[in-house]
Amino acid sequence: MMVKVGIINVTGYIGMELARILHQHPQVDVHSITGRSTAGQKLGEVLPHLADMNLTIEPELGEVTLVFSALPHKTSAEAVVAALERGIKVIDISADFRLREAKDYDKWYGFTHPVPQLLGEAVYGLVEFHRNQIASSRLVANPGCYPTSAILALAPAVKEGLIESDIIIDAKSGVSGAGRTLSLRTHFAEVNENVSAYALEGHRHLPEITQELGRLNPALALAVTFVPHLIPMSRGMLTTCYAKVNVGKGSVEEQKKKVLELYTEFYRDEPFVRVVDTPPQTKQTLGTNLCLIHPTIDPRTERLIVISCIDNLIKGGAGQAVQNMNLMLGLPERMGLEGSAVYP
Ligand SMILES: NC(=O)c1ccc[n+]([C@@H]2O[C@H](COP(=O)([O-])OP(=O)(O)OC[C@H]3O[C@@H](n4cnc5c(N)ncnc54)[C@H](OP(=O)(O)O)[C@@H]3O)[C@@H](O)[C@H]2O)c1
Repeated sequence: MMVKVGIINVTGYIGMELARILHQHPQVDVHSITGRSTAGQKLGEVLPHLADMNLTIEPELGEVTLVFSALPHKTSAEAVVAALERGIKVIDISADFRLREAKDYDKWYGFTHPVPQLLGEAVYGLVEFHRNQIASSRLVANPGCYPTSAILALAPAVKEGLIESDIIIDAKSGVSGAGRTLSLRTHFAEVNENVSAYALEGHRHLPEITQELGRLNPALALAVTFVPHLIPMSRGMLTTCYAKVNVGKGSVEEQKKKVLELYTEFYRDEPFVRVVDTPPQTKQTLGTNLCLIHPTIDPRTERLIVISCIDNLIKGGAGQAVQNMNLMLGLPERMGLEGSAVYP
């Protein structure tokens, strides 16, 4: 029997990608979709590429078994609580349940968390590390896009103690990462043929990255410098990580081989993480739930360099959420998520 699912805020970039992916999913029926300013309109009027779904955008969520909340942070927490109170399983795509400490919401997001008692219950939805907990959870906090690419890139090195604690994460995101709400910063003339770094004083995704990497190796006193960049493409994310390596003796070539083998083994059974032997490119992940990772060592400085690529809207958002949904509903993890990248 098809499982009824809902999407709160279908008209944002993540919401519409969820709708597109779930429409192809063989075991779920998108039964209820919500929107704020577009409530009452047919989905196809608002998003013509989804006209086949023949759904109407509602002001409130209908009767479903599981719902995705794709609202901005703070607003999402309220929707999540309302759904949980109705006995609905929830995957929250916002940041509202990703951090363990309530005080971090005051510091990094500028609001006091309305339900801090749920922060301990929410499972961080990076499937590669919390598969079993996700499967039995009623509330999953889907990871942010930058954290997904950075944590997957660094996890084997951090967990296996391959690197020293001083880490640099240099990440580039396509403009859809900033969402669909109009802003001067994302106007065509502002981003086209332009590249900019931002949030040098500390991006909101930094506590999420350090929290999750810290759980993998609590003994490593992490010092993470994270600098995000906005680049002129619609979607895609490339993250390059640097850290002093600590793989023991041997030539650099031997060390490189060892690191590649360790990464390959670490992710051997992961359906959506691929360790590749050449630097990956964002287009190789476009439209897929894949994370491509290439680790190597700089022979001059003996620094580990790890490059990872994802589609920020898929593995960095809607696809990873469907991967979580599959686990929560007891369905095969890859269901609805197979298919090759759109290239070029
Ligand atoms: N974009 C990404 O790559 C990405 C990746 C991972 C996670 N996320 C997270 O996923 C969530 C959705 O992101 P997104 O990029 O899809 O958002 P988005 O495209 O910016 O969504 C914007 C839409 O949300 C609606 N909205 C804004 N404020 C609202 C409110 N207070 N109540 C109800 N609706 C509101 C607006 O629709 P109306 O004006 O029509 O009402 C607006 O058009 C965010 O929490 C974001 O941090 C995003």
